[in-house]
Amino acid sequence: MALAIEIENLRVRYKTRTGPVDAVSDLSLAVKEGEVLGFLGPNGAGKTTTMHVLLGFIEATGGTARILGTDVRRSIARRRIGYLPENPQMYRFLTGYELLYMAGRIFGMEGSRLRRRIGELLEMMGLTAAARRRISTYSRGMLQRIGLVEALIHDPDLLLLDEPTGGMDPLGRVEIREQIRKLKAAGKTIFFSSHELSEVERVCDRIVIIHNGRKLVEGRLEDLIPEGTGLEEYFLRTIGREQ
Ligand SMILES: Nc1ncnc2c1ncn2[C@@H]1O[C@H](COP(=O)(O)OP(=O)(O)O)[C@@H](O)[C@H]1O
Ligand SMILES: [Mg+2]
Repeated sequence: MALAIEIENLRVRYKTRTGPVDAVSDLSLAVKEGEVLGFLGPNGAGKTTTMHVLLGFIEATGGTARILGTDVRRSIARRRIGYLPENPQMYRFLTGYELLYMAGRIFGMEGSRLRRRIGELLEMMGLTAAARRRISTYSRGMLQRIGLVEALIHDPDLLLLDEPTGGMDPLGRVEIREQIRKLKAAGKTIFFSSHELSEVERVCDRIVIIHNGRKLVEGRLEDLIPEGTGLEEYFLRTIGREQ
């Protein structure tokens, strides 16, 4: 099967006033097309930094990264990515519909094709009734959902979701999880970061755990986790070993 993401010996070193910070060290991983990969690690592990390299926001200090076979340093690599940032920033004076219309225009969509696409996605995400309201009136859960719709507007093949359930209540988390399931069923590849492990357990084909910028574990949940143990317990034990 083709690879959607290939990361080899990735290193990212930030220069700070107090000296260099190695956010990612010698990280290698691959995500197959059509796979859901959970990218797990505690705060500061290097998850967002890795995503920023894939998105071309920052340049790696060493190693290589490819998306759908194209080096991430080439802007064309980003054409087929949908991205949900950790803290989506939106023009809150716009309505949900206006935001999505603008996002579609950025990808060169227009007219009835764009209106139809917006309608379908709003319906899928249960946001139809809220579409004409200003984003400033949206709850945290609605913001995440409209952010996900925005990421999907151009029907990307690969989704990078940075903590998609962050700050959501249990109901909202279940909803996002269901959306990830639907996207997988539609053939999308999903690379998402999380530390809400109970959610991850249910949707991932495989997980990668990173800590202090280094990969500790990669594999299928059923192969990694002994019977009678939950992912949370396994995760804490794996991280704890490194302290
Ligand atoms: N722009 C930056 N400048 C300096 N250090 C940074 C910057 N961004 C992140 N870091 C540091 O890099 C490490 C990894 O951060 P991050 O990728 O945000 O982790 P995660 O998303 O897993 O919480 C942390 O130690 C963080 O403090
Ligand atoms: Mg992060």
